[in-house]
Amino acid sequence: MTEWGKLDRMETVDLKEEEKNKEPAGETETVRAEKVKKTVLIVGGSSGIGYELALKLIGRNYNVVNISRTPCPLERVKNYAADVTVGDTLEKAIHAVAEKLPNMYALVYCAGFSMAAPLEYADAKDYRYLFEVNYFGALRAMQSAVPHMKKRGGKIVLISSMAGLFPVAFDGFYSSSKAALDMLAKSADIELSPFNIRVTSVQPGGTSTSFTFKRKIYPEEDNREYSARVNRATAALANMEQGGLNAGEVAKTVADILAMKKPPHEVQCGGKNKFFALAGRVLPENFSLYLNKKMYKQ
Ligand SMILES: NC(=O)c1ccc[n+]([C@@H]2O[C@H](COP(=O)([O-])OP(=O)(O)OC[C@H]3O[C@@H](n4cnc5c(N)ncnc54)[C@H](OP(=O)(O)O)[C@@H]3O)[C@@H](O)[C@H]2O)c1
Repeated sequence: MTEWGKLDRMETVDLKEEEKNKEPAGETETVRAEKVKKTVLIVGGSSGIGYELALKLIGRNYNVVNISRTPCPLERVKNYAADVTVGDTLEKAIHAVAEKLPNMYALVYCAGFSMAAPLEYADAKDYRYLFEVNYFGALRAMQSAVPHMKKRGGKIVLISSMAGLFPVAFDGFYSSSKAALDMLAKSADIELSPFNIRVTSVQPGGTSTSFTFKRKIYPEEDNREYSARVNRATAALANMEQGGLNAGEVAKTVADILAMKKPPHEVQCGGKNKFFALAGRVLPENFSLYLNKKMYKQ
């Protein structure tokens, strides 16, 4: 059994069972079929958008592998335990996946975390952690997966956010990590196109998942003179998320990208967000920032 408490042990229940049940004469039909299917590796597929994506991809006949701290509960998903912020557990998990399932076709990096704090008082260990999960984890996952994808080509999707296009008050850490991710996707796409590896950043707007409730919000006494404004901004953000997209819609966008020959560099989800992204490009910067302040009640 996979021991989810021990992140250095990254076997999966499914793969071990497969080994045990192997027919003496060789591979079973199922194992053979799995080797031929394209493998999609999701980092952060245990809940929310990543979970919905795993569900969609199983329906589209991919092999789906998840890497996260807790397992994806779907029976047909192979789980590898890793905390992307701890040592090289992420790299080890990706190499273990590539060894077992050599047909690695795509990497989707979903792991993400958000916090709310005034930048004047935010603790460096918190925003560094946020960048480890949102940005450096994605970069390291790409570094580990690309050598296994180069021969056949494939797709990389980084789950970014509309917050990478528009600032979020008191979550500038999150916004800037996602803006960095967008730029990483674009430069990686240029570098990797000779290997037929296409890189896309998907920018969902607020999406109703448990992400909202995992946000690290500093207590009022730590936020001091910013406290009332932090409360207004986080409440507006939470409403936007919980009243926003459905995780299944975002997952469908990602699944469709994986099937495209030449996916775009950036994709927003839903008509409203596509309109906002376009408006952000054509509106004068000051007007766009004014609307943004209104949105977060600043
Ligand atoms: N929900 C929104 O409103 C929204 C909007 C725009 C963009 N996004 C982005 O969409 C992505 C998915 O978010 P979601 O809404 O689906 O949230 P979620 O349900 O909280 O999913 C986050 C995923 O990231 C994994 N994760 C977090 N920290 C990790 C770590 N240290 N190591 C390994 N895995 C880690 C979690 O798995 P474990 O906890 O099991 O490790 C989980 O599978 C994120 O990148 C988020 O920034 C979300």
